[in-house]
Amino acid sequence: MKTHMTAKNIVLGVCGGIAAYKSVELLRLLKKQGASVRVIMTQNARAFVGPLTFEALSGQAVCTGLFEKGEDASIRHIDWAQASDAVVIAPATANIIGKLAGGIADDALSTFILAVISPVIICPSMNIHMYESKAVQRNLEILRADGYSILNPESGELACGTTGPGRLPEPEVIMDRLLYCLAPKDLIGKQVIVTAGPTQEPIDPVRFISNPSSGKMGYAIARAAAQRGGTVTLITGPTNLPDPTGVTMMRVRTAREMAKAVFDQIDESHIIIKTAAVSDFRPHKEASQKIKKEEDEMTLLLKKNPDILKEVGRRKKNDHILVGFAAETEDLGKNAGKKLAEKNLEIIVGNLVDHPQYGFGSDFNKVTFFYKDGTKEPLAPMEKDAVAHILLDRIVERYLEASNTL
Ligand code: PMT
Repeated sequence: MKTHMTAKNIVLGVCGGIAAYKSVELLRLLKKQGASVRVIMTQNARAFVGPLTFEALSGQAVCTGLFEKGEDASIRHIDWAQASDAVVIAPATANIIGKLAGGIADDALSTFILAVISPVIICPSMNIHMYESKAVQRNLEILRADGYSILNPESGELACGTTGPGRLPEPEVIMDRLLYCLAPKDLIGKQVIVTAGPTQEPIDPVRFISNPSSGKMGYAIARAAAQRGGTVTLITGPTNLPDPTGVTMMRVRTAREMAKAVFDQIDESHIIIKTAAVSDFRPHKEASQKIKKEEDEMTLLLKKNPDILKEVGRRKKNDHILVGFAAETEDLGKNAGKKLAEKNLEIIVGNLVDHPQYGFGSDFNKVTFFYKDGTKEPLAPMEKDAVAHILLDRIVERYLEASNTL
C-alpha cells in the first residue's frame, strides 16, 4: 500500500512528559504507513520511556545526546535535519517550546530543530496552568509566526488531576496533521462534498431500515481531500466514527435529509463524491408509536427514495466532477457501467460487498475505477485511506489538470 507517508523520512522528537507513551503508538502508526522514522529523545524523556522501545520499533539508533559515543554522533543532527521530510515533537514540553522560541540549542533535540528546513509539527502537552501561562502562550505565538505547525492539545482529565487543555491528541490525530503536511496541496480552492455512511429509514420510533455501512470509506475520502487542501463538507448518515480533521460535518439520518443537504450545496461545489449507502426504499408510513407484535405476520409497504446521485447528475454543470460508488454482489463491470451512464458520472468506484475482508465495515477495500471514457482501473486490495488518495489522484490528473482548473 503506497501512501503519502511511504518512504518518507520522519524525525520524532520526544520530550519528558507523561504522554511520552503515546509517541510509541505514533511511531508504530508511522512505520505501518511505510515511513522511515528516527527518534530523538531529550534527557527527561528517558525518565518516562526507554530508548530501547523506540529503537526496537523504529529499527534505527535513537539519538539521546549531542556527544554520545559511537557513530558520527556530533554531526548526526545536521544529517538527520537535512534528510527529514517532516518532524514531529510529541509530546512537546514547556521547556522545548521555550528553547525553540528563544533559539536556544543546548541539547540534541533543540540543536537538531534549528537545522531543520522541512515542516515541523509541535504537539504541546502539559499541565493546564502551565499551558495557559503567559510565557508558554507567548512562546507558542512566536513559534507560529516562525512557521512551525502547532497542534493544539485536547481538553480532558490530565495526569496531574486537573481538567482542561493540555492533553496530547491521540496518535491518529497527530498522523492526520503529518499527512496534511506531506500530501500534495492539489485541491486548494476546491469545494468538495463527500457523503458517507448508511441512511436510516424509520418504521416506528424504535425501528428502522438500514444497511451495514460504517462510513469508513467516505470518511477516508473526506479526510484525504482535506489533507490535500480542499474545502470539504462531509454529509454523513449515523456512524460511530470521529470527525475527520479540518472537515465541515453535516449529520443526517434519512435519504431525504441527505438529498436536501446535497442539493443545497451543489451550486457551490466543484467535486461531489457519493460514497453513502443510501436506502433505496423507506416505509410508506412511519408509525407514530412502537408497533405491537400482535400478528404472526406483518406487511411493510415501502416507497422509493429519491436517487440523490442521479438527480445531481441531471443538475450538474460542465465543470462539476461527479463520482459515485457501486456496491454490487455480482457482475461488477456491467452494473457499475450502467450506473456510470445513467447517473452521468465522471468516475464510478465499483466494489463487491459480499467479501468479509472488504467493502462494508472493513478498514480495507478492493475496488475498480470505471471511467466515463469506457476505461477501467482495478486496484489491489488496500486500506480505505489509500483508496481515497488514489481516487483523488485520478480526479486531479484526469479532470482538474486536464481542464487547467488547478
Ligand atoms: O461505509 P463503509 O463500511 O466503509 O463501506 C463502504 C461502502 C461499501 C458503503 C462503499 O464503498 C460503497 O460501495 N458505497 C455505495 C453504496 C451504495 O449505495 O451503492 P449503490 O450501488 O446502491 O448506489 C450507487 C450510487 O448511487 C452510490 O454512489 C449511492 O451513494 C448513490 N445513491 C443510491 C441510492 C439513492 N437513493 N441515492 C443515491 O445517491
